Amino acid sequence: MTQPAQQKAFYLTTPIYYVNDAPHIGHAYTTVAGDVMTRWHRAAGENVWFLTGTDEHGQKVLRTAEANGLAPQKWADKLVTDAWLPVLDVIDAANDDFIRTTQDRHMARVQRFLSSLKAAGHIYEGSYEGPYCVGCEEFKLAGDLITDDSGAQCCPIHSKPVEQVSETNWFFRLSAFTDQLIAHYEANPGAIRPESAYNEVMSFLRSGLQDLSISRSTFDWGIPVPWDQSQVVYVWFDALLNYATAVGLGDEPGTPGAEKFAQTWPADVHLVGKDILRFHAIIWPAMLMAADLPLPGCVFAHGWLLVGGEKMSKSKLTGISPQSIVDLVGSDAFRYYFLRAIIFGQDGSFSWEDLVARYTSELANGLGNLASRVQAMVGKYFDGLLPAPGTYTEADLAIQNLLITTTKNTDHAIRDFDFQTGIVAVKEFIDAVNLYVTEQQPWVIAKGEDAASQERLATILYTICESLRAIAALYQPIMPKSMATLWTEIGAEASGASHLISDIATWGQLKPGVGIIKGESMFPRIEEPETI
Ligand code: MSP
Repeated sequence: MTQPAQQKAFYLTTPIYYVNDAPHIGHAYTTVAGDVMTRWHRAAGENVWFLTGTDEHGQKVLRTAEANGLAPQKWADKLVTDAWLPVLDVIDAANDDFIRTTQDRHMARVQRFLSSLKAAGHIYEGSYEGPYCVGCEEFKLAGDLITDDSGAQCCPIHSKPVEQVSETNWFFRLSAFTDQLIAHYEANPGAIRPESAYNEVMSFLRSGLQDLSISRSTFDWGIPVPWDQSQVVYVWFDALLNYATAVGLGDEPGTPGAEKFAQTWPADVHLVGKDILRFHAIIWPAMLMAADLPLPGCVFAHGWLLVGGEKMSKSKLTGISPQSIVDLVGSDAFRYYFLRAIIFGQDGSFSWEDLVARYTSELANGLGNLASRVQAMVGKYFDGLLPAPGTYTEADLAIQNLLITTTKNTDHAIRDFDFQTGIVAVKEFIDAVNLYVTEQQPWVIAKGEDAASQERLATILYTICESLRAIAALYQPIMPKSMATLWTEIGAEASGASHLISDIATWGQLKPGVGIIKGESMFPRIEEPETI
């Protein structure tokens, strides 16, 4: 009997990060968004593949290594081990794979891909002359540049003078794909998001594309061009391929690589910052078209974290390390804050004041208090055992109904990359349950010793606990650690409740009689940091 084919994975990628420096919160922001999205799809019961990694070749990394007195491979190994892998733990990312562009699995597949493109006539030899920004690792057009006070032509992102490159290189016939790309995006407007990113790419495409130099000859830190050892592959051509090499691009049919590729490709989402949109929405799909491979479902370009109105960056000394924020509020609040405070797809300014204010009002006071109050009341009035609910009143049913719409709206918003709306929907549910507690006054009802009062008290406390069971499931992809604790404390684990998104709004999953634990405070009050 043949096995049924495994369902195609929901495949999401982050950009692979340059190892020229340690991560700052701008990098962690992309990874957190990807992690929340993939955890959400997992919680919906889907087969998921989440890839991140590091981009290790090119002039930028080479120069940093040289400046630090290390061979580039040693430098890359050090940064990956000391900084890029540890930051995944710091922000609690659950990636399925981590690709490094210096790994054999990547380099061999890149070379094979390049050879097949050459054989198909998409690559030719030519000469390149023009400006290059090492910070962006990008050949620039004159119109892209700005002039600084000294009259030098500079990259607008890095504010540094560009360098003139004049080389004989291998070229990819990018221009030949202009019409095909336009037709693809006209037919699939959701393939580039948000709309502003779509419009930017379309107007760039309509202005016409030039062929792209895809090799460099003046340094050797890269993947050798298979038929010309005097050249290394242009770092972006090398890097973009990671999304496909990591899942077995071009492997022989019947091999594990080919099987993995069939289960994952095409990627559903490439999450990128807006500065690298064109590479992903123009060069990358053209490379795939040239190889007759299916195109990714969507490139989503998020905005920048700004400091003083400018893109946060280590080179401008405005980088803040993820660890410094996690030390203050923990990884869950870190994850919550950036997706809650900034509309995904727009720029946003980070401020310690805003972080502390939201942590205190929304997490410590809003959610943390609700949990500790009900845990204390079940402890005091029912010896820590969840009571069975009696007859539900209108107020109780209103909470149950609100949970149905909350779950639906949150699911819709998060799948649609609108993390803020999704989080706010859950927050409003928490506010509604807090208001319910205030209005129902269980501590007053507890004074009545008659059976009706006891039944009413039990129903109120059960309603709050069930609400918290649902909140723990809804927030689990965003705040995995504290929500796992809440899930256990509120008796969901012991009740065998379902984590599945589609089951969250099913009322009554907590089993009366399970223990409700009063644990440590989930979001303890924090000392004001010195930076404020
Ligand atoms: N190596 C390339 C990507 C290759 S993907 C095939 C690269 N690396 S990077 O380390 O410079 O940037 C990686 C990601 O971090 C980009 O999406 C970039 O937009 C993002 N960010 C870097 N600084 C950022 C902010 N200040 N704010 C938000 N995102 C930022 O580009």
